[in-house]
Amino acid sequence: MLWKRKDLLGLEELTPEEIGFILSTAESFKEVTTREIKKVPALRGKTVVNLFYEPSTRTRISFEIAAKRLSADVINIATETSSVQKGETLIDTGTNIEALKADIIVMRHNCSGAAAILARHVGISVVNAGDGWHEHPTQALLDMFTLKEKLGRIKDMKVSIVGDIAHSRVARSNIWGLTKLGARVTVCAPPMLIPPGIERMGVSVTHRIEEALREADAVNVLRMQFERDTQGAFPLQLEYFQDFGITQERIQKAKKGILVMHPGPLNRGIEIESSVADGENSVILEQVTNGIAVRMAVLFLVSQGREQKNEDLN
Ligand code: CP
Repeated sequence: MLWKRKDLLGLEELTPEEIGFILSTAESFKEVTTREIKKVPALRGKTVVNLFYEPSTRTRISFEIAAKRLSADVINIATETSSVQKGETLIDTGTNIEALKADIIVMRHNCSGAAAILARHVGISVVNAGDGWHEHPTQALLDMFTLKEKLGRIKDMKVSIVGDIAHSRVARSNIWGLTKLGARVTVCAPPMLIPPGIERMGVSVTHRIEEALREADAVNVLRMQFERDTQGAFPLQLEYFQDFGITQERIQKAKKGILVMHPGPLNRGIEIESSVADGENSVILEQVTNGIAVRMAVLFLVSQGREQKNEDLN
């Protein structure tokens, strides 16, 4: 496949073939990460800027390692110490990074749609590392990569997503990606944490955790984002854990071999019991490791996509 997109903004806009192509490209890069010298020259001479308006551990470090494994130069901008603090707009920040001859901006932002706005105003590539409640495409890609690696395929697999679906960009990207690849997705949460009409995205809804776990091949446990509860609508932490927490007892009653996933950061004892997070069904740290190969694939492809776009224009 000839990759023609200069940006990765979300999985909603990608075709199943494009998602499959990113995953198969990531497989090749995973092999690179097992070599003694874990580096290829694919992005030598290119510069990747990590522009993060929100905190991050996994995503930012993983993009930095991915870029370095591709031999790119990497600049990290923490907005707390940049001219964003002096009132510089997102677009001015982006066009200045472009003027400094960077090639790819990897951006996390608290506003849904911020990555798409930036991508329209710069000629260089933009990769969405999470925008508001909208999408977190590379998280979903690494989740799907891990599922495929562990289960052999994604089509017809039953995946339950449990937790704060309403505020979750991870849930939205996973739903787009998994349904496009033919998985059967169920979302499970208290009613106030499930957006009305979510069934139109092709998922089933349950408010009973036992039902979500009974036949699932994998459960993706989301962090409870209590900091977003400005109206006191969330259940109490203890109540949530009692009704929806992923406990050892519940995993023992679930399908044998069920994979337990979590994008991190974990709230141990709130959405997941420690013995499950660290137990034999957990693939949480494997997800983190797979993030490197997936992000290498994304950086490589958007770079090719920009070159292809420029060629098409000439
Ligand atoms: N999964 C995830 O996005 O984690 P970080 O917020 O640490 O990047």
